[in-house]
Amino acid sequence: MAVHELSASGAPNLVIEIAGIRMKNPLTVGSGTFGHHGNFGQFFAVEEMGALVTKTVRGYAWPGNPGPRVLEVPSGLHSSVGIPCSEWHEFLARDIPPLRAMRLPVIQSVIGRTEDEYVEIAERCAALGIFAAIELNLSCPNLKQGGLDFGYDPIAAGKVVRRVRDRIDMPVFAKLAPDYSSLISVAKSVEAAGADAISMVNAPRAMLIDYRTRKPRIGNKSGSRSGPAIKSMAVYMIWEVFRAVKIPIFGMGGVSDFRDVIEFMAAGARSVAFGTINYANPKALPTALAELTQFLKDEGITDVNDLVGAAHEQDGIAAMLPDEVA
Ligand SMILES: Cc1cc2nc3c(=O)[nH]c(=O)nc-3n(C[C@H](O)[C@H](O)[C@H](O)COP(=O)(O)O)c2cc1C
Repeated sequence: MAVHELSASGAPNLVIEIAGIRMKNPLTVGSGTFGHHGNFGQFFAVEEMGALVTKTVRGYAWPGNPGPRVLEVPSGLHSSVGIPCSEWHEFLARDIPPLRAMRLPVIQSVIGRTEDEYVEIAERCAALGIFAAIELNLSCPNLKQGGLDFGYDPIAAGKVVRRVRDRIDMPVFAKLAPDYSSLISVAKSVEAAGADAISMVNAPRAMLIDYRTRKPRIGNKSGSRSGPAIKSMAVYMIWEVFRAVKIPIFGMGGVSDFRDVIEFMAAGARSVAFGTINYANPKALPTALAELTQFLKDEGITDVNDLVGAAHEQDGIAAMLPDEVA
């Protein structure tokens, strides 16, 4: 583990590296929760964060799920958006110019209904030459085809990662579902297939029923739960996956402040994404960044990387980063 001296200003090192991508700090955003179509930066300068993860794209026009699509519920959101998408040429004309102008690593999330579609959209995005990585959304909980067809099945997940890996010359992240029964086998399978990082977790499937009508409250009937209510579940799953694989983890699921960032990193995440909280407090990320920096200073922690896996220390034996495990 690198040892960093506090700089003259006393500022701790916040730089992290994931799959060769240098992020100036570990904070990022969850796909689909931070503006679309270049509509970023109304609340803070996007370049303040370590990386930007874009809304998932399909590469063809898709209406998404019927409304209502998003409901505010205690401690988060209940949603079923269904990855609406515009035609590829519209995406190129509207979304790409602002992304091209970004001065930070941009990770493009993609999805397909079939293995071939994943490969095709990943190749098209990679060919644009502006992205730092491609994130395969193997875990959207709200689709009839794609997403969880792959994310619950270690063989299907591994196959799609392998095919994309073989076709594009840039880091590939696999975004996994919070499914206790398949998580570890899927994580190991995508690692073996060449994934450079695991993003986790997507929102778990959920349902809300209106007690008056006795009907589901959301257009797609089932939806997904996100926000602070799922935090402890996400932390547990990151803890387990950290012990199972060596590739780095992009952590998310209910993060709202700097304390959560530390908790996720201690469980094993190398970077931490703000998701649903962006809807309630659009300045949560820059606030957390300032508070994290102050906390590290106050605690005399010179390098944010030292937090990664810290919760795994037992009996005085320092935790090793997965890379360092023989
Ligand atoms: C309204 C909404 C839209 C989302 N869209 C996407 C998406 O397009 N692709 C994706 O991989 N995840 C998507 N997510 C999942 C988030 O990126 C994140 O993994 C999940 O919500 C858990 O984190 P959170 O509790 O901090 O929101 C979406 C979540 C919400 C609430």
